Amino acid sequence: MASPAGTSPTDSPAPVRANTAPRTRRTDRWWLPPLLTTLGLATFVIYATVRSFMRTDYWAAEHHYLTPFYSPCLSDSCVAGSSHFGTPIGELPVFIPLAFLSLPFLLGFRLTCYYYRKAYYRSIWMAPPACAVGEPHERYTGETRLPLILQNVHRYFFYVALVITLINTYDAILAFGGENGFGIGLGNVVLLLNVVLLWCYTLSCHSCRHVTGGRLKHFSRNPVRYRLWTQVSKLNTRHMEFAWLTLGTLVLTDLYVWLVSSGAIADLRFIN
Ligand code: FES
Repeated sequence: MASPAGTSPTDSPAPVRANTAPRTRRTDRWWLPPLLTTLGLATFVIYATVRSFMRTDYWAAEHHYLTPFYSPCLSDSCVAGSSHFGTPIGELPVFIPLAFLSLPFLLGFRLTCYYYRKAYYRSIWMAPPACAVGEPHERYTGETRLPLILQNVHRYFFYVALVITLINTYDAILAFGGENGFGIGLGNVVLLLNVVLLWCYTLSCHSCRHVTGGRLKHFSRNPVRYRLWTQVSKLNTRHMEFAWLTLGTLVLTDLYVWLVSSGAIADLRFIN
């Protein structure tokens, strides 16, 4: 809709929410999905925060399993063997996670993800919590001003996430060569499954879809990009699924490495 003469869309007052009562006439359990989403996200955030600051049992030396929560480990504070890219950084104080270079970007990538935005806008921000349910906020400004306008940096987090996924893949490959040489254990399967799903999540990103096929006027003149865009688009339809699956596999992978590294369980070996 055109703006009144002399004004731009950003000059317009923020739309005011309709004052409807009652809040909803829905009689089903509309509150269940937002509640489950909040619980799922909170569980992951608490687990990841605790583990990132623990600084123990993140490297299973015998099988060269490194948890993704500590990768890349680049400081002198990392245990011997866990630094696949050397230790260019000196000792880190205890309040800085050892993977301080990757964690902020991974967190930023997830926080600004289109799917997670939808999830936490609805479940935590309650804007709105469900279809046909009123929200507690009186005004709606969307992502047009601070702080939510910062969500637009998602495309840049995507490029960093590609690099971090490559690093996780490298860690998973190195884990096939433990202290006794080549071998395959359940830990390798867990690490591999995690990186495959991380690739699915990263490549199904909406920014990736734009990178491969965005701004093209003629697909017929760009057959390679068209083919890539087609494949990414297929993955993109399952982005929400990958978002949840990777939260699960990240926790599972870390937990498995933690248990093996601490000696609570022995790695199940298939070869060697
Ligand atoms: Fe979810 Fe980019 S849209 S990771």
